[in-house]
Amino acid sequence: MGKLRAGIFGVGSCLPEKVVTNEDLSKMVDTSDEWITERTGIKERRVTNYETSTSDLALAAAELALEDAHMDPGELDLILVGTCTPDMLFPSTACILQDRLQAKNAKAFDLSAACSGFNYCLATVSSFVASEMFKNILVVGADTLTKYVDWSDRSTCVLFGDGAGAAVIKATSDGSGILSNYLITEGGGGKHLIMPGGGSRDPEMKHGRFIKMNGKEVFKFAVRSLEESIIESLKQANLNIKDIDLLIPHQANIRIIDHAIKKLNLPKEKVYVNLHKYGNTSAASIPIALDEAVKKSKIKKGDIVILSGFGAGLTCGANVIKWSK
Ligand code: ACO
Repeated sequence: MGKLRAGIFGVGSCLPEKVVTNEDLSKMVDTSDEWITERTGIKERRVTNYETSTSDLALAAAELALEDAHMDPGELDLILVGTCTPDMLFPSTACILQDRLQAKNAKAFDLSAACSGFNYCLATVSSFVASEMFKNILVVGADTLTKYVDWSDRSTCVLFGDGAGAAVIKATSDGSGILSNYLITEGGGGKHLIMPGGGSRDPEMKHGRFIKMNGKEVFKFAVRSLEESIIESLKQANLNIKDIDLLIPHQANIRIIDHAIKKLNLPKEKVYVNLHKYGNTSAASIPIALDEAVKKSKIKKGDIVILSGFGAGLTCGANVIKWSK
């Protein structure tokens, strides 16, 4: 039997119904469709209502991914949720999901790496699978960042949206699955993107509960780390740029993606982009795009797919995947 790898056998996603367009935002703050489109590429985003929590979106995405993988929740032995907007501090969103799915045999925990959450989760589960600790795993990237957006701050409120994406992982020994991962953590840059309220340092949120960002510093880190993570993860898989069939980068800003792929000399046709429709959905952005790409038949068995995401921490993570089905 060959080496055990984590293969993706099912995908699903969920987006809230409510659409907020750039025009809508221009009635709320001093901005314009032209500015947002030119500086970010975003045209509209999906926003949850007050009652909808991260686990609601995660549940819907998870059910679709399980259906796609023809797997019963009872077969899962692990549920991992990448989120920075959990339903509450505890129990974890993964535990809430375990109960809601009735996945009685699954262990469950959350992983906090903001927009890099899905890639950090995949790196984690690839080790779990290789060590034979778990073999049927549900990975979800889900966030509702619009609940933490100051809708009077034009420098952040135009960027974010809500959503969830999920992948069902099975141990496989046919040579497909996650071939390599590469993670970057630069805690010193953490101050450039923070959500300070609600934690133990400020449980009463005296310093506010909204996202604060130094956009220029995050932008520089994003371009640099996207490029580094792609080069290094490919190197570890003994592959190079021309082997890539599809790159799915974090959907934060089209300018970040364009800068990075220009430096890498990667043709635009090999890059999946949907940020114009959903904005930055944090940990959900890559699995939502992955689900769309699969549904549009942009990925076929044996293809080399790279997922790379960056975000608060500062963090960045990439996974090189040989598609399994
Ligand atoms: N509409 C109109 N004007 C605006 C807006 C807006 N929505 N926002 C800012 N401006 C103004 C600024 O006030 C500034 O005006 P000034 O020159 O008079 O001071 C001007 O536009 C330029 O602002 P910059 O901040 O320099 O604009 P920049 O080109 O850097 O774009 C942006 C800002 C889009 C935020 C960019 O820096 C960016 O995308 N950064 C990365 C963010 C990101 O990707 N985060 C991902 C991680 S998210 C996570 O992990 C949760």
